[in-house]
Amino acid sequence: MTVLVTGATGTVGRQLVEQLIRAGERVRALTRDPAVAKLPAEAEVVQGDLTNPDTLRPVWDGVTGLHLITFGGDDGGPLQTGHEIVEMATKAGVQRVTVLGGWDPSTVEQALDDSDLGWTSLRPVEFMANALDLAESIRTEGVVRAFDGGRASAMVHEADIAAVAATALIQNGHAGKAYALTGPQALTLPDKLSTISATIGRPVELVRLTEEQAREDMRASGYPDEYIEFAIQLETNPPVEGSIVLPTVEEVTSRPARTFAQWVAEHAHLFR
Ligand SMILES: NC(=O)c1ccc[n+]([C@@H]2O[C@H](COP(=O)([O-])OP(=O)(O)OC[C@H]3O[C@@H](n4cnc5c(N)ncnc54)[C@H](OP(=O)(O)O)[C@@H]3O)[C@@H](O)[C@H]2O)c1
Repeated sequence: MTVLVTGATGTVGRQLVEQLIRAGERVRALTRDPAVAKLPAEAEVVQGDLTNPDTLRPVWDGVTGLHLITFGGDDGGPLQTGHEIVEMATKAGVQRVTVLGGWDPSTVEQALDDSDLGWTSLRPVEFMANALDLAESIRTEGVVRAFDGGRASAMVHEADIAAVAATALIQNGHAGKAYALTGPQALTLPDKLSTISATIGRPVELVRLTEEQAREDMRASGYPDEYIEFAIQLETNPPVEGSIVLPTVEEVTSRPARTFAQWVAEHAHLFR
């Protein structure tokens, strides 16, 4: 079988490409720019843009498994091309599909529901990789400046999101399932900082910003207003499901979900 991985250069996609190759699968990896993609030599790298279905016509030969992202374009908005993509997948004879859900529903999920393809929805809470946003100020100053409403997050390791996707693409029995994915603990910002501090062997200070200071900071860093309000809302009114630990990763992959301490150990050089 050949698995077409979209978002192959992304946070989850890179992990998925590696895990499928390790499992002995043939992987075709989609990117808009193969010249900078830095994908493993074992992957067949193909060029295509999910917002422009015509560019995808050459990529389907022999594809039986498909991993889809649901966003594209410079603004990262939900894909409008779901029906064209799903039509091509159906014609190609794709049998298993996983979809990495975004914040907003897209035409991808709608098109799959309207099709005869069985598909598996992956709905992660916060990625552990979001902690990379803290790396520069910890590395350079030993400080994190943040507006912290005390939110606890059951962040999930991106390798575990990929592991669930790989399982659903390789094995039968996952079509029609919607998997909400979390890590094994719900951690507050001080919890995360103490894990990072213990791993790098240096103190990390939390400097608490007010809501308005946080808005100004994000504006100065160039974040769009919509994202800024989303980030503030996440702290003042966090969705309850973001802090509830679920057993899904272990149930699907038969391996315990990776901890944040593991994630930090793997990325410690970025915080030192
Ligand atoms: N971060 C979180 O905490 C979190 C939590 C839950 C869900 N999510 C969702 O997870 C998804 C991944 O988010 P991320 O921020 O981590 O993204 P990311 O991994 O940085 O994803 C970027 C990937 O998308 C590909 N891509 C973008 N536009 C494309 C297009 N038009 N055609 C083909 N490929 C395109 C890029 O490929 P090339 O550049 O190589 O073409 C790259 O592989 C999003 O839907 C997000 O909403 C994120």
